[in-house]
Amino acid sequence: MNNIIMKTEHLTKLYGRNKTEALNLLKKGTDKATVLDKTGVTVALYDVNLDIKPGELFVIIGLSGSGKSTLVRCFNRLNTPTRGNVYFKDQALKTLNKEQLIQLRREKIAMVFQHFGLMSHRNVIENVEYGLEVKGMDKIKRKEIALDMLDMVGLKDVETMDLTSLSGGMKQRVGLARALANDPEVLLMDEPFSALDPLVKRDMQFELLKIHQKLKRTIIFITHDINEAFKLGDRVAIMRDGRLIQVDTPENMMSNPADDYVQDFIDGADRSQVMSVRNVMITPSTIVWSSDGPRRAIQEMRANNVPSAYVCDQDMQFQGVITLEGALELQKHKTKVADYMIRDVTTISADATIADVMPIAADTKFPIPVLEDGKLIGIVSKASVIETLIPDSNNNH
Ligand SMILES: Nc1ncnc2c1ncn2[C@@H]1O[C@H](COP(=O)(O)OP(=O)(O)OP(=O)(O)O)[C@@H](O)[C@H]1O
Ligand SMILES: [Mg+2]
Repeated sequence: MNNIIMKTEHLTKLYGRNKTEALNLLKKGTDKATVLDKTGVTVALYDVNLDIKPGELFVIIGLSGSGKSTLVRCFNRLNTPTRGNVYFKDQALKTLNKEQLIQLRREKIAMVFQHFGLMSHRNVIENVEYGLEVKGMDKIKRKEIALDMLDMVGLKDVETMDLTSLSGGMKQRVGLARALANDPEVLLMDEPFSALDPLVKRDMQFELLKIHQKLKRTIIFITHDINEAFKLGDRVAIMRDGRLIQVDTPENMMSNPADDYVQDFIDGADRSQVMSVRNVMITPSTIVWSSDGPRRAIQEMRANNVPSAYVCDQDMQFQGVITLEGALELQKHKTKVADYMIRDVTTISADATIADVMPIAADTKFPIPVLEDGKLIGIVSKASVIETLIPDSNNNH
């Protein structure tokens, strides 16, 4: 399990008395509503198998009641599974005794809750320090760490403030700082931003991505917002009625939804935030070399029926754009493409999202060059940007 930090194996959680009968029905593929109807047992999770990689930002999404919170609470054993196993690295959580579990939650797997879960009788820094204090760390050291963590989540000069004087966004930053203070290996976050208004939520998402980039910790993040899932997730798992329906990268999920339930989620997503330029770029038809003379430039443009050409050096490093007018000027002066090309051209990286490229696409005279390490690897036209924004334009649904 070298490349897996957390794993679930046939994880099942049922609520109610008649579990054996419910399990028999579930094995036959009976759905949650029928199981409840026939046995009185609520299926919170059934046969969930997941591998989470170290350093991954893993998002779990699903409708209300689909089992997201139950699942995430199994990851630190706040919930005890009915069947199946959860592993942290190679350790099955069920083999841990009470003290070991408390220690695991304190040191390895931290949790951030939707409604902050802070202690109202303690001020900001006392909340952040709490875990370190329990560990017995001395006051000076833990204060230093707590201040660092507050700084990391973007909070300054609030350490002695009362929680009641903080906004929701600030409280959630405190919650995050507290979870990070113990330097956990895994961070569990159950709808941490869903109580926040949209602008604050956006800031928090950005903050979380920055922190993830910096600390490279494993994060398991629950949300019911597909845009949030696709924005944050390296991979996204979709749950329905306690079962795992699909686990994939946002891009793969969009191009290959497992079923209509997944498709419905995707239809609610803002495609421009997910699709990258790499998916929509096309091969530039007209490339000329900076050392070329006018004749070749003009001939290439005529052959491809375009009014401009992309100029590269011999290593495909992008140099600029030469227009037909520029090429005609060259012809007069008998010089090289390099002398008359436009050098000040806006370019974009292949990993940028469509949302990034939209404002540029709006006022560019020719398709935008897409670069990777300075090399021209494609171009994006205004039309292809617009096309990606039309739902279902790339699949048959
Ligand atoms: N303590 C409990 N007793 C009985 N049923 C429970 C209990 N906890 C959860 N359930 C049921 O298990 C199912 C999954 O609940 P869970 O809270 O995991 O869903 P969720 O996906 O987190 O939903 P939400 O988006 O509303 O938070 C639901 O049908 C719920 O009613
Ligand atoms: Mg929940």
